[in-house]
Amino acid sequence: MAMQKVTVLGGGVLGTQIGLMCAYWGCDTTFWLRSEGSIGRTEPKIKRYSALMLGDLEKAKALLGNPMGAYVYPRGLIRDWKSTDAAAIDALIAAAKKNFEEKIHIELDMGKAVAGADIVIESMSEDPEAKIAVYEQAKDKLEEKTILVTNSSTLLPSMFAEHTGRPEKYLSLHFANTIWKNNTAEVMGHPGTASEYYDAVVAFADQIGMVPLKLHKEQPGYILNSMLVPFLSAAQALWANGVSDPETIDKTWELATSAPAGPFKILDIVGLETAYNINQMKPVAQTEGTVENRIGKLLKEKIDKGETGVNAGKGFYQY
Ligand SMILES: NC(=O)c1ccc[n+]([C@@H]2O[C@H](COP(=O)([O-])OP(=O)(O)OC[C@H]3O[C@@H](n4cnc5c(N)ncnc54)[C@H](O)[C@@H]3O)[C@@H](O)[C@H]2O)c1
Repeated sequence: MAMQKVTVLGGGVLGTQIGLMCAYWGCDTTFWLRSEGSIGRTEPKIKRYSALMLGDLEKAKALLGNPMGAYVYPRGLIRDWKSTDAAAIDALIAAAKKNFEEKIHIELDMGKAVAGADIVIESMSEDPEAKIAVYEQAKDKLEEKTILVTNSSTLLPSMFAEHTGRPEKYLSLHFANTIWKNNTAEVMGHPGTASEYYDAVVAFADQIGMVPLKLHKEQPGYILNSMLVPFLSAAQALWANGVSDPETIDKTWELATSAPAGPFKILDIVGLETAYNINQMKPVAQTEGTVENRIGKLLKEKIDKGETGVNAGKGFYQY
């Protein structure tokens, strides 16, 4: 049965995007935020991301009939690209405007925020203590039916299950940034997740325009980052060891595999601070003379110059 009422805990970059997707596909969506100050930070994000989503729908009309359109249309916003037309996209735009206006609420009171929720999506900062504190705060207020999921990128649901008061109804639902285009939803339970709730979350992901990707067991980094992080590390090692330069490394990957972006273009999108943090988490990065140590120093030089990637206008490339 479709989920009608969704609560998102946290109104940051991802929380805002997730809430907007839920509202877009017709769910009554409440953001729980911790303070008035958070409202001041979340409201502009809601405006910004909803405008980007509507803008991408507008642009999609120009892609109709173009064979490349199938690769670049906003996959989370248009269900059946092959059979869509300009009138159908206009109808989606009109419905989206109405849903963004009517179906999004902001609430500071946890009890009111989660009342009646079919699913609560936790998308707060990647801070285990803060997550535990919020799970403890929510657990007595959640209704019997409510499923709780986390969007955490690096923490496993088994770390938190006992704090949720509903381990069988708790699992990970992991989105990617710009979810209306990159509409992956990795679904990962912990050993105590009951299969009926896992299946309900898979169905929910589809309901809100995502492609559910099922993991059969817990895996740090899920599927995507288990592949992407070693790939990006290998590229950075080639650079830090002086084997080649970022442009040549990217060109090699792009020409040889027909991929649209090589590892350094991906690093610019991910952001160099994130790449630096991931590198520095490796204990060997603290040891002088290791390749990880050199990668850390090279990334830090660029970060100190403000060259942190696409969002800054410059990273490995100029934007
Ligand atoms: N940014 C990404 O590309 C990305 C992609 C997939 C998943 N994620 C995951 O999504 C989650 C959120 O990431 P984000 O990028 O949106 O972060 P963010 O920093 O943009 O937002 C974090 C939100 O959490 C809130 N918050 C922090 N501490 C809190 C507390 N103690 N009580 C209540 N609210 C609190 C902040 O006010 C903010 O709204 C993380 O678990 C992250 O791993 C992020």
